[in-house]
Amino acid sequence: MTRTASPRSVLMCRPDFFTVSYRINPWMHPEEPTDTSLAVRQWDALHEIYRTLGFEVHLIEPIDGLNDMVYAANGGLVIDGIAYGAKFTYPQRRPEGPAYLRWFADAGFEVREPEFTNEGEGDMLFVGGRILAGRGFRTDPRAHAEVAAVFGREVISLGLVDPSFYHLDTAVAVLDDTNIAYLPKAFDEPSRAVLRGLYPDAVVVSDEDAAVLGLNSFSDGCNVVIASRAKDFERQLAERGYNPIGVDLSELLLGGGGVKCCTLELRR
Ligand code: ARG
Repeated sequence: MTRTASPRSVLMCRPDFFTVSYRINPWMHPEEPTDTSLAVRQWDALHEIYRTLGFEVHLIEPIDGLNDMVYAANGGLVIDGIAYGAKFTYPQRRPEGPAYLRWFADAGFEVREPEFTNEGEGDMLFVGGRILAGRGFRTDPRAHAEVAAVFGREVISLGLVDPSFYHLDTAVAVLDDTNIAYLPKAFDEPSRAVLRGLYPDAVVVSDEDAAVLGLNSFSDGCNVVIASRAKDFERQLAERGYNPIGVDLSELLLGGGGVKCCTLELRR
């Protein structure tokens, strides 16, 4: 099976002010130290991989005091030149919403202010024309209907049940327009049935790979950038004709994020 890469346009945010000083997901341990310069070096490596793949990489200016701003995926959902803004669950991250919205407006996107709480691409993944949307921890189910109206696209609402996989992008990886990889145990039974029906050939990842946020990956349809520690996922991708590219973001994992969290796709 030969896979076709289509280079993406993405938005990233350098982790200049990254640290863990509060706990809003089970991965975060504010009592333990973080190394911001190591976070920056690891993030640089991801940035470099994207450039090598021919991606158009845009940068938003990090803001002092917003520890989690590096997780750009949460900044909104951008499809057809329309940017639907984020409205964060926790007060610590709330100022990121307007900061990302301002960036979208300045970059020429048609901006839509959200009415309901949602964490952007963290909980909403675009797969071949439809939007998979997570609920249960961060995103208000009413935002799913809002997103369907804003983009005029089919939205599949999925219930997340495991606190370690609190965002949809920690439990689902979009591989291309027709297939995904996922962790079944992160979903309630009705949602598992929906996913089985929609994606009968999906890659099912091991608990070990999910535990290093292996699913939190970014694909251009051929090259799949993943956590280098997700070894079995790497093998499964290679077996299916994808080109897995490993990167070590151990420092950003301390905040509960990985490759995808650092990446917001811009679809014109
Ligand atoms: N510390 C951040 C939070 O809990 C991590 C966000 C990870 N982002 C993602 N797209 N999953 O909000």
